[in-house]
Amino acid sequence: MKSDSASEVKVPWVKGLEKGPKGELSFAGRPLEATLKAASAAVPAYVLSLAVVQSRAAAYRKVLAEHLEQPLYFHFAMKSNNHPALLQMLAGEGYGVDVVSGGEMQWALDHGFKSADVVFSGVAKSKNEIQKALEAGVGQLNVESLPELVRILEVAKSLKKTARLAIRFNPEVKAETHPYIATGFRENKFGVDALDLPEMADVILQNPEFLDFQGLSLHIGSQLLDFAALGDAIQKTLAVEQQLKNRGLKIKSLDVGGGVGIAYKGSEDEDSQVLLKYARTLASALKGYPGELHFEPGRFWVARAGALVTRIEYVKRTPYKNFLILNAGMNALLRPMLYQAYHRIELVPAREGASAVYDVVGPVCESSDTLGTLREFIDPREGDLAIIGEAGAYGAVLASNYNLLGAVPEVLWDDL
Ligand code: LLP
Repeated sequence: MKSDSASEVKVPWVKGLEKGPKGELSFAGRPLEATLKAASAAVPAYVLSLAVVQSRAAAYRKVLAEHLEQPLYFHFAMKSNNHPALLQMLAGEGYGVDVVSGGEMQWALDHGFKSADVVFSGVAKSKNEIQKALEAGVGQLNVESLPELVRILEVAKSLKKTARLAIRFNPEVKAETHPYIATGFRENKFGVDALDLPEMADVILQNPEFLDFQGLSLHIGSQLLDFAALGDAIQKTLAVEQQLKNRGLKIKSLDVGGGVGIAYKGSEDEDSQVLLKYARTLASALKGYPGELHFEPGRFWVARAGALVTRIEYVKRTPYKNFLILNAGMNALLRPMLYQAYHRIELVPAREGASAVYDVVGPVCESSDTLGTLREFIDPREGDLAIIGEAGAYGAVLASNYNLLGAVPEVLWDDL
């Protein structure tokens, strides 16, 4: 009766990369090797499963709806993955989108999102981007500074339009994540310091014709697995909201950003525990909150929906170290080099025998081009596939043509 064991927690979504008892891999429920072979898929390539994203987004929405009493709105953070079919699918499901540039805004509008469902974040909005956003009628501009607010006001006046906006508050908390992806500390470039808020409130109150204030927004960092700092940040935000209300501003909503991490070194069961912890933190911090809640998730929806398929070009053994040299590296996936991020690496076919330790590196002419260090493999051979797991978020979007290695396509797994 092994299969019914209580330890087999059912995660409420389609799983990404899984390893069977004999080391055989499946992705989104289908055998990986046979599917790639039958499709004669190009290597290197990313594979992306929309079924995984769709089911994870639905689970995310459901878990939060079960914990929170407020109306909830979800805006997918397109910076994590901007595949056209993915965006069309999410728009079709009724989700909104979070964009950080004029380019992303146009891409969102071109791929099915209604302008009212677009949230425009980002610290460096140009006049031109603001103009385009107001002309398109985007749902919300998340304002990052007093000079940006002044600029939005000028553009709104010149176009005779009203800008719907939120102010991104910097709550001065230190999220436990890699420093490059923490955003809510006072030394980060993001968000508005509490000291600047009264002046910004006055600008808004003096210009009701042009500035339609929605509320505050927050985003303290990405790949969060612990939410104590987020709980603190929300508390600080609610206190600041009260001060803004006392000054005469009306508040309709709170945008709590994204940031929910996944267990890159762990199982999908752990992901669901992380999500639950997030929902509980929000439920306790926002009990009785009278407005709408908005979210900007990226990674949690898409990371496990993608994998990078590469091939072993050489197995190189030196007196000091063994290397698996793959035909894609930092040109395709920059996360290990930029954030010391861990990505699982699995070989196809799986073999039996004794294992040895290898560094897994790419073809780029830089020593930093290392995808994983001290990984154990059994009898890896030239020509084997090396699958880099959990690469659907901040993978293909960060790829480059460095060393002119050529574009790495992102193909839809569901179509193979
Ligand atoms: N909202 C804002 C304002 C953001 O800056 C971000 C991510 C998100 C939402 C989505 O966060 P998520 O749910 O994906 O954590 N390239 C890095 C991650 C950078 C995150 C930037 N901001 C990485 O590969 O880990």
